[in-house]
Amino acid sequence: MGTLKKLFGYMKPYSKYFYLSLILLIINIILGMVNPYLQRLLVDKVLLKKENNFLIYLVMGMVSISIVTSLFSYLFTLLVEYSSQKTISSIRHDMYKHLQELSFSFYDKARTGELMSRLTGDLEGVRIFVPGGFLQLVNSIVTFAITLIILFTINYKLTLLSLVLSPFLIYISGIFNKKIKNAFDELRREYAVLNTTIQENITGIKVVKAFVQEVAEIAKFKKENKENMMKGINIGYISGKYAPVMWFIGDMSFVILIWFGGFLVQRHEITLGELIQFNGYLWAMIWPLRALPNILNMYEQANSSGERIFDLLNYKVQIKGPDNPINIEKIKGNVVFKNVSMRYDEGYALKNINISAEKGKKIAIMGATGAGKTSIVNLIGRFYDATCGKILIDGIDIKELDLKTLRDSIGIVMQETFLFSDTIKDNIAFGNPDATMEEIIDAAKAADAHDFIMEMPEGYDTIVGERGVGLSGGQKQRIAIARAILKNPSILILDDATSSVDMETEASIQENLKNLENGKTTFIIAHRISSVKDADEIIVLENGSIVERGTHKELIKKRGLYYHNFKEQYKTMFSDEMIDNILKEVGA
Ligand SMILES: Nc1ncnc2c1ncn2[C@@H]1O[C@H](COP(=O)(O)OP(=O)(O)OP(=O)(O)O)[C@@H](O)[C@H]1O
Ligand SMILES: [Mg+2]
Repeated sequence: MGTLKKLFGYMKPYSKYFYLSLILLIINIILGMVNPYLQRLLVDKVLLKKENNFLIYLVMGMVSISIVTSLFSYLFTLLVEYSSQKTISSIRHDMYKHLQELSFSFYDKARTGELMSRLTGDLEGVRIFVPGGFLQLVNSIVTFAITLIILFTINYKLTLLSLVLSPFLIYISGIFNKKIKNAFDELRREYAVLNTTIQENITGIKVVKAFVQEVAEIAKFKKENKENMMKGINIGYISGKYAPVMWFIGDMSFVILIWFGGFLVQRHEITLGELIQFNGYLWAMIWPLRALPNILNMYEQANSSGERIFDLLNYKVQIKGPDNPINIEKIKGNVVFKNVSMRYDEGYALKNINISAEKGKKIAIMGATGAGKTSIVNLIGRFYDATCGKILIDGIDIKELDLKTLRDSIGIVMQETFLFSDTIKDNIAFGNPDATMEEIIDAAKAADAHDFIMEMPEGYDTIVGERGVGLSGGQKQRIAIARAILKNPSILILDDATSSVDMETEASIQENLKNLENGKTTFIIAHRISSVKDADEIIVLENGSIVERGTHKELIKKRGLYYHNFKEQYKTMFSDEMIDNILKEVGA
């Protein structure tokens, strides 16, 4: 019930449409009640008592009722659709907004297909009940209640008889409701799994093909597809089993009444017209009972979908800006890590990291794969929070800064390049939509991307496919670099940003960056010595700890990890002896 209450809470802004449709519905129900009364008059007055001039009034009454109810039905349908679409749209909006706010750690575990199913299938599950199904429920209850009162006033004995079977009906409805709820829960879960299977397959189709796993993937899909089908059939099976029983009970009430009613007419306890009127009302009382399984279906579907929607909406945003952030005009870019340690789930990924990067300095981070390089830079923009220790920017704990201000001051090229299926121009301007074409071109030139962009059929207006399909790895990286540069950030983070770019292009980008870098604090993660050797400080990580630090020269002199890495990278060109001689000559 809590879930439904929350769902209806979303309808509040559109409640005037809802109440209007409710009023139309109730008027229509009441008008519908007049017809059996007119039929009674037809039989008793016109047919039996031959009051023929009465007929025209009856016909006019029936036609008028018909016109009004048709018009109201039309308005009712429009209003219901309007309020339901508005409600769903605002829930969808909140879900999307919440998805934007959730942190990296949520997405580490979330599955895209699963999330998509909440934004599509589950919302649809809610839509049919809010408020359409709910109003059907109101319709059933009100119709049932009004007819019951009318029937009681016509003949209480007949009415009581018609209710004899009701306890069975309530009992069976209870069982049905429980079973159908479980069935819908299972279907929704299975639907999410199926969606994930499809989404992951499409995203990874190139890997599937390269490893010739199409048949295995089809088999995997077939299993989920079958599961989904079975869960769907199960719902049909439950509805199929219980609905006719419930209908049967409804119909039996009718049979009992006609039987006993016929008997009363024969005994002249009621008139024929009254029996016909009774008959009309009885239908009005029985159909809500017959519609009950369908309404319960919709209710349970909305309930189970609603729960999943609120699960997502209530998922806590782990990283938030402070309520009262410290206001600073512009971040200068002095970055300090103070005894920072960090762990994701188990085991520390970073241990006691201390870094002091003054504004404009270039800090390089090296280390084997999995050493913790990305983890370090992800802390600067609070994509994750440190488990212990502090990170200060311009002397202020980053947790005291407004999140937008903080992230706006950082330009990041992530290790895995992601481009949107949009034009190259818009991809570069992603963080800075107001940038002029000139600024975009300048950023592209700095990232050494301008020339290849100009060679493309539509230049900057070329649309790249999803995730940048149609571009080479190095081209994608250069667009991502341009995107980061265009933000003109105080802090620039390059996480393996030139790994797919050849040495020569990399050198040219480095040179361009040097010209730009004035004032920008730069963190550069790279494996190539050539990418880091001119850094103000090179930090060498091993298993989450800093094991060496210093300038290129200092680290070479140290003859430690960095030196061995250096030798390893140059050994194809020079012998060990030559390298040592060169180093001696440059005084290292
Ligand atoms: N999102 C995450 N959730 C859990 N563990 C993670 C996550 N990201 C990284 N790790 C773990 O933290 C450690 C450091 O990972 P990190 O990505 O920082 O390494 P890296 O030095 O950037 O490696 P690479 O050179 O391969 O990019 C690894 O052991 C990794 O398994
Ligand atoms: Mg990394």
